Amino acid sequence: MLIPLILSGGSGTRLWPVSRRNLPKQFLSLAGRGTLFQQTINRTRLLPNVGSPIVVASEDHRFLAAEQLLESGIEGATIVLEPMGRNTAPAIALGALQAIERDPDALLLVLPADHLIGETDSFIQGVNLALPAARDGSLVTFGIRPDRPETGFGYIRRGDAIGEGAFRVAQFVEKPALATAESYVADGHYDWNSGMFLFKASRYLEELEQHAPEMLQTVRDAHASAKIDLDFVRIDRDKFAKVPDDSIDYAVMEKTQRAVVIPVKCDWSDIGSWSALWLAGARDPQGNVREGDTIAIDTRNSLLRSHDRHLLATVGVDDLIVVSTPDATLVAHRNAAQDVKRVVDELKAAG
Ligand code: GDD
Ligand code: MG
Repeated sequence: MLIPLILSGGSGTRLWPVSRRNLPKQFLSLAGRGTLFQQTINRTRLLPNVGSPIVVASEDHRFLAAEQLLESGIEGATIVLEPMGRNTAPAIALGALQAIERDPDALLLVLPADHLIGETDSFIQGVNLALPAARDGSLVTFGIRPDRPETGFGYIRRGDAIGEGAFRVAQFVEKPALATAESYVADGHYDWNSGMFLFKASRYLEELEQHAPEMLQTVRDAHASAKIDLDFVRIDRDKFAKVPDDSIDYAVMEKTQRAVVIPVKCDWSDIGSWSALWLAGARDPQGNVREGDTIAIDTRNSLLRSHDRHLLATVGVDDLIVVSTPDATLVAHRNAAQDVKRVVDELKAAG
């Protein structure tokens, strides 16, 4: 059985003030129909022999996740609740342990809940191509052709071809420095790691045993004592606090000998920041992406987003991000979009 594992624990701080601690970006409708979380799950419905999803989310978002599943008509989903974030490697381990209870041979399709994908067909085609390699014990990642030296992504060097559209991973480098990223983009043999993976749940746990045994042991302890409460699987706070914090990229993908990459050709964005949303959005002839009540005079290449009939007007400005919500307004240069998280840091520091 193929089980979608939806990673939904991120906080999306760079999309402040729309993304908030209580309502992070994956649960928002930022582009396309439905929230990013709902779009992610809906894409998996077209896969062959697909089971109901396993969602791994923060305990704080349990009702959001449950409501949005219900609204999408998804039945039988399991929602695993983390008392705190320990990054993606433990979250996927929880999902893998859960999946094995349903089917010891389960294949896990790991999907971040906050990505925007243009053509569902190319995504489905990529997953279908990946199935044989995953059944044979490979850890498959889906590669995206890079168009800029983004340092927030993992880079994968394509090695030998091993079948239709599939390559051995010659090298996996998570979040390289800018100069390195530039050399990879110029080289032409590198893809971005999309952060979506396909592998057998059992294989992932074996890899953890080899590369991060303490993580596996502590996650196993936490999962073994989970409390089942309706559709929720509640992980114990004290037990989960003992789990080391790490991402799948550093803990497993950089180290494994069994990685395979399937390059996929689809518009893909991880909607990491307002500038990513501007890039992915529908731009008008002046290059503006506008949402809500806006007037843009002599304004170019900007993202303007207003809420609740609050009128937002700009005159004679370029490359701006202006986002207004009932209790906060953001004005940022499009090139500084990554630094929006510093506002959240400052708010946190101020309590
Ligand atoms: N449940 C759960 N718990 N989910 C989590 C946690 C956690 O502790 N931490 C992160 N996630 C979710 C996020 O919500 C997101 O959907 C996904 O896992 C990836 O986490 P990010 O924090 O967004 O990772 P990243 O963007 O820095 O890097 C990853 O994604 C890039 C592509 O978007 C890496 O896989 C990179 O290699 C990749 O290029
Ligand atoms: Mg991300």
